[in-house]
Amino acid sequence: MSPPTATTTDEIIHSLKATNLNNIADEGKEILVDLTKGKPAGGYSPFAHLLPAPTLARYKKYGIDTSKGYPEAPPQSEIPTFVDEAYAVRSEGFLYVERGKNADPEKKALFGAATEVRHLTKHIGTEIVGLQLQALTDQQRDELALLIAERVVVFFRDQDLSPQKQLELGEYYGQVEKHPQAVHVPGLPGITIIWPEYYYQTGVKNSFKRIGYTGVWHTDLVHEHQPAGITHLHNDTIPEVGGDTVWSSGYAAYDKLSPALQKFLDGKKAVYVSAHSYFDRNDPLNGKKRVEREHPIVRTHPVTGWKSLYLNRAMTDRIVGLEPGESKVLLEYLFGVFEKNLDIQVRFNWKPTKKGLGTSALWDNRVSQHNAIWDYENTEPRHGTRVTSLADLPHFDPESKSQRQSLGLSLD
Ligand SMILES: [Fe+2]
Repeated sequence: MSPPTATTTDEIIHSLKATNLNNIADEGKEILVDLTKGKPAGGYSPFAHLLPAPTLARYKKYGIDTSKGYPEAPPQSEIPTFVDEAYAVRSEGFLYVERGKNADPEKKALFGAATEVRHLTKHIGTEIVGLQLQALTDQQRDELALLIAERVVVFFRDQDLSPQKQLELGEYYGQVEKHPQAVHVPGLPGITIIWPEYYYQTGVKNSFKRIGYTGVWHTDLVHEHQPAGITHLHNDTIPEVGGDTVWSSGYAAYDKLSPALQKFLDGKKAVYVSAHSYFDRNDPLNGKKRVEREHPIVRTHPVTGWKSLYLNRAMTDRIVGLEPGESKVLLEYLFGVFEKNLDIQVRFNWKPTKKGLGTSALWDNRVSQHNAIWDYENTEPRHGTRVTSLADLPHFDPESKSQRQSLGLSLD
C-alpha cells in the first residue's frame, strides 16, 4: 500500500484520524512525519533516586554506577525507527551450544552440593536450596541446564548475585540478548530491568481493575530468528506479600491435547510477533508494525527430546495455513490449555528466607509461558535484573515423543 498523498488540511486531518498519527504537519505540499514520536528517549532516565534500598545496596557492592541516572537505555539514535531496522537487529543465525546435552543425567555435582532439592509440583518447578548461583562450576551449570529443560523452571532463594556474574552465566547458556530499546543496568546492556516503578513513571498506569501488559501470559522474545532459551530473572527487591509469578508447562500442555489435535498441530507453523512496534519505511502513515517470524507451533526440545506446545496469548498472532477465523478460535483454545490447567502450572513466591538477599528463577522459554501477578499494586517495591540467553533455531522432529510418552505415563 502506498502512502496517502494528502494535500489539503482536510485530507491531512482525515489521514490523521485514519492512521492515529498526531504528528503530521502540512509543510507546503509535503507531509512530514515525526518518526521519533512514541520512541523512547534513550540514554539515562532520572529515576535513580527511586531505587529501593536492597537494589542500591547490591549495586553499591558490585560497582554499578547509578550517578548518571537510572535505568539506562540505548541512545535514541540507535533505537530502530523502521521495522526493517528491527528485523536487521538479529536476522542471521549464530552458533549455539546446548549446555544441557552433555550433562550427567543424575546431576550428581549439582544435587550433591545442594542441601535440598525440592520439586514444587509434579510436572513443573524445582527449588534448589543451599547453593549460590555465582559459585557454580561449569559441570554444575550444565546439570542445571538439563534440570531446567526437564523441570521447565528452577528457583534459588537467598542469592548474593552480582549483575556481572548473572551476565556471565547467561553468556554460558547462549547468546545474551541485547535489546534494541529496553532499559538495562547502567553499563551492562545485556541485563534488562524489571521494575514496575519505572513503568509507572513512564506512563504505565495499571490499576486493580486494569492490569496492563505485565499481567498477560507470555513467553520472552519469541519473534527472534533464534528465540529465547533460558531466561534468568533475579529479583533483588521483593514485596513482603504477593508479587508471585506463575509458569505453565508447554510439554504438559501438549500432553493435554487429544491425539487427533496433536497430529493436526504437529508440523504446523505460527507467526510470532515482537512486543515493540516500528514504522514501515514504505508506508509510515499507516501505523506501526511488529517484527514477525514463523516458528513451529510444536517444538522438539533439543535436550529432553520431548514435544512442547510453543505459543502464547501475547505474541502468537496466527497459525500459518488456516483461515483467520479458524486460527483465532483454535489459538484461543490452546492459550486456555496453558492458562486454565492448574496441574501444569507452578506459582512461586519470591520471598527470600534471609533479609538482604535476592531470589533467582531460571526458566526455559522453549517449553513454557509465564505471567507476573501484580497484586501488590506497586504499594511495595519490586525490582529485578533479567538476562535472556537466545538459543537454537526452533525445530520439530516428527519422530519425537511427548513428555508423558517418553516417561511411560498414562496418556488417558
Ligand atoms: Fe517475561
